[in-house]
Amino acid sequence: MGANVIHRIGSVKDVAQFQKHLTSLGVNIPCDSEILHGEASPLRHPIRSAGITIGNRIVVQPMEGWDGTTDGNPTESTLRRWRRFGSSGAKLIWGGEAVAVSAEGRANPHQLVIAEHTEKGLAKLRAALIEEHRLTTGSDDGLLIGLQLTHSGRYCHPTKEVGAQPLIAFHHPILDRRVRLTKDFPLLTDADLDAIIEQFHAAAIRAWKLGFDFVDVKHCHGYLAHELLGAHTRAGRYGGSFENRTSFLRQVVDGIRTAAPGLKIGVRLSAFDTVPYRHDPERGSEGKAGEGIPEKFDGLLPYLYGFGVDPLNPIDADLTEPVRFLSLLEELDIRLVNLTAGSPYYNPHIQRPALFPPSDGYRPPEDPLVGVARQMEVTRFLKEKFPKLIFVGSAYSYLQDFFPHVAQAAVRLGWVDCVGLGRMVLSYPEMLWDATEGRPMQRKRICRTFSDCTTAPRNGLPSGCYPLDSYYKESQAADRLTELKKR
Ligand SMILES: Cc1cc2nc3c(=O)[nH]c(=O)nc-3n(C[C@H](O)[C@H](O)[C@H](O)COP(=O)(O)O)c2cc1C
Repeated sequence: MGANVIHRIGSVKDVAQFQKHLTSLGVNIPCDSEILHGEASPLRHPIRSAGITIGNRIVVQPMEGWDGTTDGNPTESTLRRWRRFGSSGAKLIWGGEAVAVSAEGRANPHQLVIAEHTEKGLAKLRAALIEEHRLTTGSDDGLLIGLQLTHSGRYCHPTKEVGAQPLIAFHHPILDRRVRLTKDFPLLTDADLDAIIEQFHAAAIRAWKLGFDFVDVKHCHGYLAHELLGAHTRAGRYGGSFENRTSFLRQVVDGIRTAAPGLKIGVRLSAFDTVPYRHDPERGSEGKAGEGIPEKFDGLLPYLYGFGVDPLNPIDADLTEPVRFLSLLEELDIRLVNLTAGSPYYNPHIQRPALFPPSDGYRPPEDPLVGVARQMEVTRFLKEKFPKLIFVGSAYSYLQDFFPHVAQAAVRLGWVDCVGLGRMVLSYPEMLWDATEGRPMQRKRICRTFSDCTTAPRNGLPSGCYPLDSYYKESQAADRLTELKKR
């Protein structure tokens, strides 16, 4: 058994006790004692900057449902999720969910695709979200809606029949081993990457035509554009130097500016990373995953297989290049930045701190509050360096009952501009809206990070909040999930 004893937040009595708990853990997370309401709330202050207006500081993070049709169109479940995004009261909808720029670039057979045959479906999602948003907040003034554009690269899994079809930018000694890629497995060629850039252009034009205010050129979580940022060992036009590794971004942006001049651009970035983790069987107990430990990297130094990692000690972040990347975003006149970290595939405790691991994960190697604090601290550091960028912060859901207190403090202190609801939006979309309206919290709807929203799709089922949302709790998929978890 691991030595880690984690104090459950659900059992913390009140905010004063939570503040004491933070102090005892030694983590630097600001937390206000009183929640302010209406205009007095920092979370309700609009942003007006560089031609961008956002009506409040509440953001819906991109949250996929693994519930599209096999041809990449939304289903009733997708529509329901987007309606709930609208009912959150958030004035910034960051992407809705990852939408692939091509069928082959999908991460799962039920991911949405942006193409001619899905335009109507995507338009419906946007319209439903706006309608619901108006019902909650009274108007769509200051509502900014983006679409997250993605190519899944190493994690392509376009259909059930063909299974995983990795499209890789470079050979990664640890990640290749995990999916048994041999040394001669072919890399995407420069010409392949040129063609994918054109797919991003075509996708952005469609998003613009459909009325989306911006597109997110996704650079996070191990997917293609993020992998390219770490392609130090790649030869050719897209690898090696910082200029080459960011050439993909620059070309995508150039093309969008020419073809869709009114469309704004945002970037969701994994601002730092670590080596991949795995569960340690010696630290597990019967039927339960062991604690997470980093994969061995002694033979791999300097570590040239990631972005925002210290090459000499890749357990730690090194923000030198992420800072350079944000300077580049400023040069490209990109203001909207959403910071996240790592990848759900190889270091989920970094990316989405949780008490319970997903089925393919490991028990947390640290108190998940340390993970929350790590992302908050990096965001604060980068916000200080780039005051003109509009930053969205991620990974707050683990704060549970105290999410509103921390969100308010972080915005009030200028650590971040806007606060994103990730897993919490699946169980309790209106949480921050209720808090800033002065309504009592609905405690039974607070996400407790059971990770079923990740375990379900890892096993081919749609994502959603199985423990707390009756739509999923009472579905047939819930029975299958229970079976799978028993196994
Ligand atoms: C079920 C699920 C689906 C997700 N889908 C996406 C996605 O489509 N795009 C993306 O950038 N991040 C995605 N994420 C990551 C979240 O946006 C967010 O960064 C993460 O959950 C941490 O924030 P939280 O603590 O508020 O949950 C997903 C996470 C989960 C659990």
